[in-house]
Amino acid sequence: KKPAGAPDPKLAKPVSKVGIIGAGLMASQFALLFLRRLQVPVVITDLDQARVDKAVAGIRDEIEALRAKGRVDGDTAKRLSALIAGTVDKADFADCDWVIEAVFEELSVKQQVFAEVEPHLSETAVIATNTSSLSVEQIGATLAHPERLVGFHFFNPVAVMPLIEVVRTPSTDDATLATAMRVAKDLRKNAVITRDTPGFVVNRILAKLLGEAMHAVEQGTPFETVVEAQRPFGFPMDPFVLLDLVGLKVGAHVLDTHHGAFPDRFFESAALHELAEEGVLLEKDGKGNARGI
Ligand code: CAA
Repeated sequence: KKPAGAPDPKLAKPVSKVGIIGAGLMASQFALLFLRRLQVPVVITDLDQARVDKAVAGIRDEIEALRAKGRVDGDTAKRLSALIAGTVDKADFADCDWVIEAVFEELSVKQQVFAEVEPHLSETAVIATNTSSLSVEQIGATLAHPERLVGFHFFNPVAVMPLIEVVRTPSTDDATLATAMRVAKDLRKNAVITRDTPGFVVNRILAKLLGEAMHAVEQGTPFETVVEAQRPFGFPMDPFVLLDLVGLKVGAHVLDTHHGAFPDRFFESAALHELAEEGVLLEKDGKGNARGI
């Protein structure tokens, strides 16, 4: 069945090389997924060579771990390891058909990395952002060709979570959207097309859950009570474990964005910001209640 709002799939452009901007954990998870599912060359970039080298080594280690578990055979592992490359030279993105960023969740940072890369890209390359809560339209505001920008929002853990939110801005053209849908399908993910509104759909729902859970704790409800009380919903993880998985900084940012956009409907969490600064995990003691919030 064609997903709601999907353009003609025939408009999708072929992807024979992938460029990934950012060499952090999320970016490395993308690289591994693109390598496994598309089996095309993947080039990954960041500000300095050491970071890039570390990411490439980590991705090769992950490929080796998949081979050891029997998930990929020896020949495939060798081929995938040879398909990943790292660079600090954005000119190496010249023949990429699909470029995706996974850099710090700040508008100016995302705009800057695209400004650096776009002049090197071919005219037909699609540019994707993995933003979880910034406006995709604003990220594209400084692009020469905003019609080729699309939101492509993964969920943690990237290898396992089946959904991708494909975010269409008023500028995104049909060929870009069709390519994003095709890439999602090739990654064996389920894609939904969303509007470019704060939190798209998933984080809008999630920000309610996580924000209310944190707010209850800040108002004096013990962590264990919140954990116990949400159990009947059958979520695979309780809200605090999920916050640890997402990252407390990212979680706090998501709550801030929603509070900023809809102040009467969403809570921000000062406690979450503090914990993120301290670098602790909510689940450190198994319940989170040693945090003394
Ligand atoms: N990386 C790769 N694979 C992983 C993994 C990870 N970090 N964690 C688990 N897996 C794999 C396991 O290897 C296992 O694979 P196989 O079945 O092929 O062996 C499979 O996932 C299931 O793992 P487990 O049996 O160990 O654990 P589980 O059944 O408890 O499932 C989970 C783990 C899939 C993470 C599950 O707890 C879950 O779905 N949690 C909710 C996660 C969620 O809601 N994510 C969205 C967060 S929001 C976000 O990311 C976006 C944002 O913008 C904030």
